[in-house]
Amino acid sequence: MSAIRTRTLEEYHADYQQSVADPDAFWAAAAEPFTWRKKWDTVRSGEFSPAGNSRWFDGATLNITENCLDRHLDQRANKLAIVFEPNDPKTRHLRLTYRELHEQVCQFANVLKKNGVTKGDRVVLYMPMIPSLAIAVLACARIGAVHGVIFAGFSATAIADRINDADAAFVLTADGLNRGAKQIPVKSVVDEALELCPSVRRVIVVEHTSWPVQMKEGRDVWYHDEVKDVTKDCPAEEMAAEDPLFILYTSGSTGKPKGVVHTQAGYMVWADYTFRNVFQVEENDMYWCTADIGWVTGHTYGLYGPLLAGSTTLLFEGVPTFPSPGRFWEVIDKHHVTIFYTAPTAIRSLMAAPIDHVLAYSLSSLRILGSVGEPINEEAWHWYHQHVGKGRCPIVDTWWQTETGGIMISAMAGITPSVPARAGLPLPGVQPVLLNQDGTEIEGNDQEGYLAIKASWPGVIRTTWGDHERARQTYFTPYPGYYFTGDGARRDENGLYRIIGRVDDVINVSGHRFGTAEIENAINQSDYVVESAVVGYPHDVKGQGIYAYVICKNGVPTTDLDLQMTEASIIEAVVAEIGRIAKPDKIQLVSGLPKTRSGKIMRRILRKVAEGETTNLGDVTTLLDPLVVDEILAGKK
Ligand code: PRX
Repeated sequence: MSAIRTRTLEEYHADYQQSVADPDAFWAAAAEPFTWRKKWDTVRSGEFSPAGNSRWFDGATLNITENCLDRHLDQRANKLAIVFEPNDPKTRHLRLTYRELHEQVCQFANVLKKNGVTKGDRVVLYMPMIPSLAIAVLACARIGAVHGVIFAGFSATAIADRINDADAAFVLTADGLNRGAKQIPVKSVVDEALELCPSVRRVIVVEHTSWPVQMKEGRDVWYHDEVKDVTKDCPAEEMAAEDPLFILYTSGSTGKPKGVVHTQAGYMVWADYTFRNVFQVEENDMYWCTADIGWVTGHTYGLYGPLLAGSTTLLFEGVPTFPSPGRFWEVIDKHHVTIFYTAPTAIRSLMAAPIDHVLAYSLSSLRILGSVGEPINEEAWHWYHQHVGKGRCPIVDTWWQTETGGIMISAMAGITPSVPARAGLPLPGVQPVLLNQDGTEIEGNDQEGYLAIKASWPGVIRTTWGDHERARQTYFTPYPGYYFTGDGARRDENGLYRIIGRVDDVINVSGHRFGTAEIENAINQSDYVVESAVVGYPHDVKGQGIYAYVICKNGVPTTDLDLQMTEASIIEAVVAEIGRIAKPDKIQLVSGLPKTRSGKIMRRILRKVAEGETTNLGDVTTLLDPLVVDEILAGKK
């Protein structure tokens, strides 16, 4: 039986109806074409509330890599699975067929086994965006180890926090990485992290840049040494449907980043279904998702989705602007990319470059464009549509989250409506609702509210690693019976959803999530700082920028030198705690923060000032010291 493919608007409506009326039948049909060692007993079980314990395809056993690789060997052994485009365009690109990828995954899996990794162990990966990262992820899944990829831009402290939270004994890394003009000595970042991680027994290092590294005797081994005596044969481990597949850390409004857990069968079915249908994938597509595998988009749509569907996926090590802002377009022409999936922040940064960088390339291979990670503004949508898609490629604006496993609300390319600044209609299986603050559903169109999801879907977050209560409290308790997204949305007059943005203390910077509390905690590590408050503000390229209000120990600096040293120390603290990606865009040093008499910071006021609002700050009479607001307004950056 072949996979479910929706090809017309009528079929979409019929599928949607069926997915709501009889989800068991709908998802059983979607799951049917996969390789199962044992079929499921129940399609759906568990509940959102109170337990927050959705289960999908319970009783089934499988291995996701058999579905990504082995299943394709009959028909697609010589088809390209991965095309790799390196950071430096002068370096040779690399291609792997499904047969070659299968062999390399099996070899890597055998290296893991040889080094003591067993089913259920957590393996942390901190690697460049190279084929070895994809191979290593699949190798973990092959033997039933739980992969936890950390984007290779996070700091040593951030890595250590994640390794310790996951209680991981194994780390996979490389000697170094090049990202655009930047060079990151990833192995030494890992070394620094591991000083804080007693649980780690083994580090396997892939040679990539050939930079010198320190190898710790008894702990660190080179992959190329280990692989010499292993075979290319590695039977896949039989996994239960609800065994964890991976942990991916993401920020929330409180506390440290949490480890979002996805499991084997539901995630697989969801990744495959959404990938095929949103992008309307055909056998000969050359598909390129620009996200790093360190983020969920790279997991589901850079790796698992395309391989499950037997497609060719392009992995890119570099950045959109290196060596020139024409790089994306050059790569599209070079590899005849047909489906291109990127983030609004990348589009906006390329829009700012002279248009000749786009016009120099034909882009004639493209047929579908995608956007993900943050709202795409109308100007960027039109530029993307006109200059990249040449007016002929449908754009899918895909709304989803690390916790949803895959795309939830989006056009199906060329089938359901694609309107600028609207994610569109929900995919079959997704029942979005808009809620009032008190949790009542808002009926009808042309309405705005908190976005929640009414019924379970196969890719829903199962738990947060090591702390189920946190998942329950964050997602399933705020509005019992619903999954709470943390986003606000508008349903327009035609029933299409427009995502407005986060309604909690999460900032979305270039499509990456940071909790304000997490950044404040980092800033407060600086010796100069007493207290800080962080808010988001509109940023032309990043979508949102980070604006930090900081109180210093010795008051507001009075000399330029003092000011520079204080700011440098604040930035250094954030880079050390989280990484360069969370660096504040603006720092305002203040003598006080607007607090209520009970000591609560009134972020509403700080947000307004950061957004450039100088009047209309709302009621400030409840503030302990209303004069603080005048000072903040006077010193606004
Ligand atoms: O606010 C929404 C925004 O990104 C958040 C999820 O972030 P993360 O888990 O890092 O996953 C990003 C990639 C899936 C959401 O809560 N977001 C994501 N996609 C869109 C979006 N906002 C508007 N439109 C989108 N297409």
